[in-house]
Amino acid sequence: MARANAKAPPEGGVGGERERLRVAGLTKVYPTGKRALDGVDFVIATSGVTAVIGSSGAGKSTFIRCINRLVEPTSGRILLDGVDLVGLDRAGLRAARRRIGMIFQEFNLVERLTVMENVLAGRLGHVGLIDTLRRRFAPADVDAAFELLARVGLDGFHDRRADALSGGQRQRVGIARALIQRPDLLLVDEPTASLDPRTARQIMRLVRELATERATPAIVNLHDVALAREFADRIVAFSAGRIVFDDAPAALDAATLDRIYGGEDWSASAAADDDAPPAAPAVRGRVLGDDAGVAG
Ligand SMILES: Nc1ncnc2c1ncn2[C@@H]1O[C@H](COP(=O)(O)OP(=O)(O)OP(=O)(O)O)[C@@H](O)[C@H]1O
Ligand SMILES: [Mg+2]
Repeated sequence: MARANAKAPPEGGVGGERERLRVAGLTKVYPTGKRALDGVDFVIATSGVTAVIGSSGAGKSTFIRCINRLVEPTSGRILLDGVDLVGLDRAGLRAARRRIGMIFQEFNLVERLTVMENVLAGRLGHVGLIDTLRRRFAPADVDAAFELLARVGLDGFHDRRADALSGGQRQRVGIARALIQRPDLLLVDEPTASLDPRTARQIMRLVRELATERATPAIVNLHDVALAREFADRIVAFSAGRIVFDDAPAALDAATLDRIYGGEDWSASAAADDDAPPAAPAVRGRVLGDDAGVAG
């Protein structure tokens, strides 16, 4: 398997680009004794979309959640622009989390709030709902929210309640909410798993475009290998809590996938059901940080 637990590059840069995130020796053992992550080393630069794939239970969500400490790592280091998130106290962690945008499978919107309120909630970082409701929003934030809503295809939706939206529209709100804080890193856990295949591709295209436009590196957990291939610059595969593949999408061949998925069916794909123009050709070589975006 290619680059099994590939050695992390020396600190400071990735392929000539500045390093944004460095994970070193990350291990998570849940109280049940389950070793969900087992010494993960991983580095990303200041741009590019990295897809994380692997069987159910491989540790993908645990990995993403450890990065912003929604899950407390057992050991290891998580350096965001050189600052170790593992050692931070509450206030430090709150500040760090404001730099990390999170997009969830289940959208995690506040159902009875409007689209605009949900987006602006992202501006406040991780404060409680009551604080969100009491807070007066700065006009600049409201302007930024309108702009983002238009960008994610929700022009005119600001006054709709979240519970009156379709799944795809909800995820667009989730994306706007994550981006309004102008994060330095986007963490995305199965953004399309609750969506139909066609909407899934639209959402991945949007994530890809916005990550590129805003020069924000994104780590995206995906069940769907076809989506990972089409929309990521780099694919990292987990198996039993370890990285077993880390390379460009073009390097991910069928034999490798069979090994990653241990004979499970990995071919189920969102691609078949879409009438969008054909994807850009697979990117060659390791292009972490390459700005080559998907057209359109
Ligand atoms: N809170 C928890 N307590 C105990 N074990 C857990 C907990 N959360 C996850 N696990 C276990 O850790 C392992 C990794 O889980 P994780 O959710 O990270 O996998 P995943 O790759 O995201 O899977 P999926 O594709 O199903 O989302 C699994 O064996 C899972 O059962
Ligand atoms: Mg998961």
